[in-house]
Amino acid sequence: MNQQFAKDVLNGLNADPKTLPSKYFYDKKGDSLFQEIMALEEYYLTRSEYEVFKTNKGALTKTFLSDVEKFRLIEFGAGDGYKTKVLLNHFLQENVEFEYLPIDISGNVLNQLESDLKRELPDLKVRPIQDDYFHALEKIENGSTRSVVLFLGSNIGNFRHNKAIEFLTELHARLKPNDLLLIGFDLKKDPKTILNAYNDDKGVTRAFNINLLHRINNELDANFDTSKFVHYPVYNPLTGTTKSFLVSTTAQTVEIMDAAINFDAWEAIHTEVSQKYSLKDIKRLAEESQFSVVRNFFDTRNYFVDSVWQKS
Ligand code: AVI
Repeated sequence: MNQQFAKDVLNGLNADPKTLPSKYFYDKKGDSLFQEIMALEEYYLTRSEYEVFKTNKGALTKTFLSDVEKFRLIEFGAGDGYKTKVLLNHFLQENVEFEYLPIDISGNVLNQLESDLKRELPDLKVRPIQDDYFHALEKIENGSTRSVVLFLGSNIGNFRHNKAIEFLTELHARLKPNDLLLIGFDLKKDPKTILNAYNDDKGVTRAFNINLLHRINNELDANFDTSKFVHYPVYNPLTGTTKSFLVSTTAQTVEIMDAAINFDAWEAIHTEVSQKYSLKDIKRLAEESQFSVVRNFFDTRNYFVDSVWQKS
């Protein structure tokens, strides 16, 4: 049994209000539901960032090569490489000297990505690292070559503000002065568009949220009746925060190992934060973690931004 998972689940469900960490969404089923989410009509994030790369690949290459002749591209949470391949392809076509280092905690994800890339881009130099992000950075030799770290998909939005600052400050400490960071941010926009992205018609996001309870049942010997919880996302345009909840439709007791967790009727578990940003928010976030914004790259609708940062 994963002891940390058990501890986090019991701590979260014994807290008031109840919470569960969103990082536990991603078991095998959760990974495949997230793949489905990315293909949904309502979930504009992935397609928007893809478009940012398609339209700006030349300018991004120039930015990565400013003052240097080569770089290594380090990607945090590489996934299936759908968006990154746009850049990889372009760099190869332009004979850019670079190496690609995808980092992921999941060996399965990395093996799949590596074999896809070998088939699709045989000339690419790729060195996958299976570890958490900061341990992986330690494993990469600290030569003078520029590192360009990619943190895409608005993954930063799943951190609460102080955790985001902590994460970025730690990253700052591990980068050399000439290194670059490219972060993908989902921008503030029509609140309805944002809310729909987390409340799709087919119910895939609902299944993704509810899957967390299935995972607890499967891995922690629990007895959640998932038919007694509803998926409920909200977006607050004042703060730019989307929050997802699982709401208990009835008073009930759930057993998890030998603990009993009581729910009142309509009591909620907070499962996820997905932060949306203005350009001002992004500048402030960079400054608070001692970075400065070099340049922002947008899609045509201004739904999403990929922001290049350097150490200030
Ligand atoms: C991975 N992350 C950026 C997604 C998001 O938009 O917050 C996870 C997700 N949750 C529900 N739908 C997608």
